Amino acid sequence: MAAEIISGKELAATIRNNISSDVFNLKQVGIVPGLTVILVGNNPASRSYVTAKEKACQEIGIRSTLLEYPDTITEEFLLHEISRLNEDNDVHGILVQLPLPKQINELAVIEHISPEKDVDGFHPINVGRMMTGQDAFLPCTPFGIVEMVKSKQIPISGKHVVVIGRSNIVGKPVGQLFLNEHATVTYCHSRTTNLKEITKQADILIVAVGKANYIDSEYIKPGAVVIDVGVNRLESGKLCGDVLFEDAQKVAGYITPVPGGVGPMTITMLLQNTLLSAQAVNRSNVKG
Ligand code: GUN
Repeated sequence: MAAEIISGKELAATIRNNISSDVFNLKQVGIVPGLTVILVGNNPASRSYVTAKEKACQEIGIRSTLLEYPDTITEEFLLHEISRLNEDNDVHGILVQLPLPKQINELAVIEHISPEKDVDGFHPINVGRMMTGQDAFLPCTPFGIVEMVKSKQIPISGKHVVVIGRSNIVGKPVGQLFLNEHATVTYCHSRTTNLKEITKQADILIVAVGKANYIDSEYIKPGAVVIDVGVNRLESGKLCGDVLFEDAQKVAGYITPVPGGVGPMTITMLLQNTLLSAQAVNRSNVKG
């Protein structure tokens, strides 16, 4: 039997409806959730991600502001802009689109964002809070992946989760989130020697390798949950994931498509984090 598809697009629509009504309620008490996105330079992929984020904000009533700068700006200038946004009470979320030009130290920039406005969940304070199981802004792609698995009532506790990829944005934190849900987690990466042997043991396989159609049915245990984080554009212009979908679908129990899988969930969790930040401000106003 072919695997059941976990549609990120459908789940995202449901969650966005809920966010939208919470945004409406906040507006009744005079708070308009606001996200400011900083885009440096002219990377086409970054621009298209930023455009998608802005559109999603507008659709659900979050005020979004885009600050665009040329790729010649200095780190000092960017840090100064972030300081200004940290102080601005109308800004609940700050997102600096990565990558940044090489004269700018990305870690210094991320560390300069107030942890209370770090809706990407990249600040070391939020990473540390996540690792120790405290309240934190969770990074959007990993957060969205866990929500997708939970949406199908798939058990996580005691299951073997295998993550292929170890980036700071996806691989490392997604493994940590599944560990927090009591899974047994294995990380694989470019130096892993026996990849197929390990992935075939996965109850839940998270694929973030960045290579088009790389994982086929031979890497997958029958009935496993396969989450495809890849976004690759083929020469034909068509988008595809890191998993060879039609082949993998014959073996897996659940699978996420590309497009319409993890991508829409990433943006949805950004909206969710911006809402959470604005709600926290409202709570501290009420307390005085
Ligand atoms: N570049 C690629 N993915 C992301 C992301 O999730 N957030 C930011 N800020 N930059 C990115």
